Amino acid sequence: MASSNTQGSPSALKTIPGSYGLPVIGAVRDRLDFYYFQGQDKYFESRVEQYGSTVVRINVPPGPFMAKDPRVVAVLDAKSFPVLFDMDKVEKRNLFTGTYMPSTKLTGGYRVCAYLDPSEPTHAKVKQLLFSLLLSRKDEFIPTFRSNFTSLLAAVESELAKSGKADFNTLNDVTSFDFIGDAYFGVRPSATELGKGGPTKAAKWLIWQLHPLVTLGLPMFIEEPLLHTFHLPPFLVKGDYEALYKYYWTAGKQALDMAEDLGLSREEACHNLLFATTFNSYGGLKVLFPGLLANIAGAGEKLHERLVAEVRGAVAEAGGKVTLAAVERMELTKSVVWESLRLDPPVKFQYGHAKKDLEVASHDGVFQVRKGEMLFGYQPCATKDARVFGATAKEFVPDRFVGEEGSKLLQYVYWSNGRETEDPSVDNKQCPGKNFVVLVGRLFVVELFLRYDAFTAEVGTDLLGTSVSFTGVTKATSGPGS
Ligand code: HEM
Repeated sequence: MASSNTQGSPSALKTIPGSYGLPVIGAVRDRLDFYYFQGQDKYFESRVEQYGSTVVRINVPPGPFMAKDPRVVAVLDAKSFPVLFDMDKVEKRNLFTGTYMPSTKLTGGYRVCAYLDPSEPTHAKVKQLLFSLLLSRKDEFIPTFRSNFTSLLAAVESELAKSGKADFNTLNDVTSFDFIGDAYFGVRPSATELGKGGPTKAAKWLIWQLHPLVTLGLPMFIEEPLLHTFHLPPFLVKGDYEALYKYYWTAGKQALDMAEDLGLSREEACHNLLFATTFNSYGGLKVLFPGLLANIAGAGEKLHERLVAEVRGAVAEAGGKVTLAAVERMELTKSVVWESLRLDPPVKFQYGHAKKDLEVASHDGVFQVRKGEMLFGYQPCATKDARVFGATAKEFVPDRFVGEEGSKLLQYVYWSNGRETEDPSVDNKQCPGKNFVVLVGRLFVVELFLRYDAFTAEVGTDLLGTSVSFTGVTKATSGPGS
């Protein structure tokens, strides 16, 4: 089933099929397809079908007037996608959000880490700061996760008792924001001057950067001029940003000391901490947990029973404690987290400029890309590639990654902007939060199944991903207590 071989190795280079259409008009027309007429998945899948190729020339949103050039070479299968991870082949300067870049006025005047290419010296300094911060706080991850998410589940139960339904996303936003501050700095933002307004301020600031890529479900004639044509003015979110910055400046004192030792100014480091924590971490968990919860809910009681047995068994063996060693023994739990990250990667778009003339190989051919052209990957197409994941590629298969055979597929899990079998470093652009994310995903499953034998939920869509509401929980009838 798992195969990365080209089928019938072609000898000649193929021309990349596809069309950009007429200047401006073509890009606007495609943008409307992307947001309104087809939707994201269909937009890419239909072009793969139309041109009979997983490497195609297409426009990507937002197009005029925010992006100078919407034209990309899209790599849409598991074999071609990893060209985006190869730092010898692609440059990743200023393209974290794609063909447009939000104003640096939204990040204190700095180009923060996510927009830096590894060839820029500041990239290594900031990334090292984040590695050091995460390492210095690693023993706090389990206790802070547990205290914050136990409260979340208690709130779920009281909402269920009141109204028979509990909106998970809202509770998750509040909890994840506090958890991250607690885990990284030992200070819950809600207990500071920032108060309970942190998640709302953070969400507003996120929208100012991501509005070109989202739809709020409003009529097209309102959204097009408001969200997809011009940047929202940064001054409207300045006060929110300053309030967040103040929290990091105070709570992140130790991290800022570390930053100075690495040769960064406190100011540049603080804007970077804010970004890595609020955009990367909080933005990530806002999407990760609802997606994971929805997949586990959808899999039903049979999976719940297996997770209960695995989680409670490992915790009992660890003397009733949730330890890192206990979590490491939970193979199904880990597979469930990876499977959810495969099926619903929280960050779906990746970009890179070709550093030189390149050859890009898909399953079906080898294509010539010219120096300077923009390569683009829509991750769901690559991580749901049936030629790697077989007939169940589009389904949630909880134990897909269990065992020796299962672990061979991990090289095709790309959520972190790198293979799951590789590690982030100061020399690449792979997510420095990779291990943290897979750990908290597992802790989330652990918390659920220490507390519940099973649960039910309603699933819908949200601005950035999935929306989930609990509709019922069955409290644990046995277990290690923890
Ligand atoms: C980069 C995903 C959590 C910090 C990235 C990239 C992806 C990603 C796809 C590469 C973007 C690109 O250049 O194309 C995610 C997801 C997360 C998550 C899905 C959670 C579910 C975190 C956390 C941190 C973090 C917890 C905290 C340290 C960063 C930073 C970069 C990055 C600083 C830029 C890396 C570089 O410039 O080398 N992340 N991330 N992310 N992520 Fe994460």
